[in-house]
Amino acid sequence: MAQSTKSAKLMIDGKEIDLPIYSPTAGPDVIDIRKLYAQAGVFTYDPGFTSTASCDSTITFIDGGKGELLHRGYPIDQLAGKSHYLEVCYLLLYGELPSAAQLETFELNITHHTMLHEQMVNFFRGFRRDAHPMAIMVGVVGAMSAFYHDSTDISDEHQREVASHRLIAKMPTIAAWAYKYSIGQPFVYPRNDLDYASNFLRMCFSVPAEDYEVNPILSRAMDRIFTLHADHEQNASTSTVRLASSSGANPFACIAAGIACLWGPAHGGANQACLEMLKEIGTPDRIPEFIARAKDKDDPYRLMGFGHRVYKNHDPRATVMKQSADEVLELLGVENNPVLQVAKELEAAALADPYFADKKLFPNVDFYSGIILEAMGFPTSMFTPVFAVARTVGWISQWKEQLSDPQHKIGRPRQLYLGETTRDYTDIEMR
Ligand code: CMC
Repeated sequence: MAQSTKSAKLMIDGKEIDLPIYSPTAGPDVIDIRKLYAQAGVFTYDPGFTSTASCDSTITFIDGGKGELLHRGYPIDQLAGKSHYLEVCYLLLYGELPSAAQLETFELNITHHTMLHEQMVNFFRGFRRDAHPMAIMVGVVGAMSAFYHDSTDISDEHQREVASHRLIAKMPTIAAWAYKYSIGQPFVYPRNDLDYASNFLRMCFSVPAEDYEVNPILSRAMDRIFTLHADHEQNASTSTVRLASSSGANPFACIAAGIACLWGPAHGGANQACLEMLKEIGTPDRIPEFIARAKDKDDPYRLMGFGHRVYKNHDPRATVMKQSADEVLELLGVENNPVLQVAKELEAAALADPYFADKKLFPNVDFYSGIILEAMGFPTSMFTPVFAVARTVGWISQWKEQLSDPQHKIGRPRQLYLGETTRDYTDIEMR
């Protein structure tokens, strides 16, 4: 925990309360209100946590004003350009870039945990074929607690390590199998000789009836999608994982909670919602109609893939993702596809519109990721599962960090109660 260098004074009913202020290595100062209730008998009120730091962390930093995203201090564009997903996983988990030997050992560990317990096949088969792959992922990942008992003791550092590796390694297999199950194709087992992204593409797209060669450009693009989604500070799903973990729940249960939270359209579900929106718009001439709806105060409609709680300049992940989209679409020869045409014109129209400029609403990472994933052949229902695969390392790194903090305690927010006060029960015939 940082040392207090200055303090804030709060006057309540004539009583002065001194609150310590901590200066972070980057970002705004933080006022420590942990003793506020004990000292002054009041709570603070911040639904949506817009001004509240829920923890201290050394993993990821976002400067929303500058449009900067750092993992352990390294800018995301450098990592996306020069590194690769498993190296970024190591960095997030252990705090430093690995040496060649450390990376080799780590990759070997991940590669050799990619298979699922064979009994889990039955678990997949219990779902309806039309189940959303995210529903299957929530169920299967939660069920891992019942299959891997030897890595659920969170007080054992070795078990925590094994659980971390298992989750990162098995998540692509789980997502790919959720997809295969939904289209009625046989499950494809992982291959240890392939890199993380290629293995995932092969498990999704190969069939036993013919050979499948992973295109290196698509595999690089997939790896970049994973890298760009690896972690993102204390976002909703990460905070969900931390809150679930604060009760001492096992790692598989915590990550299942994170997957459930990620599913929502305001969070990871936005990539699916965005592509569906582009298809619904259909042709560029309908763009003004949808922009007008997004601006209408009486219409809850929002442009999916636009806006962010933290980024108020640009989303640095979106910049890299856009370049990747151009490369992939050129490779696949689909630069002129109608969805892309609508995407390009919608982006230009929104950026030129004062409503979006004044509210600092820019395209976020999900605006472009769906375009790439669709070009690769993924159905929209698989977009959020891909995000979940990528974010697993972020959830796990934050979970590990929380558990190694000796000060961590159960998360238990307070409330501003506006309901009835005590009243007597009335018998049913009297109501
Ligand atoms: N379209 C139209 N108006 C919007 C949009 C949008 N996409 N996003 C925000 N606004 C307006 C909103 O109506 C509000 O207007 P006013 O001040 O007049 O009431 C203002 O901008 C501020 O919005 P907010 O809801 O207070 O901002 P927030 O920080 O709570 O929400 C957000 C952030 C990402 C949930 C929101 O921008 C949104 O719903 N975007 C669409 C969904 C989306 O693309 N989500 C993916 C986020 S990136 C991936 C991830 O991290 O999961």
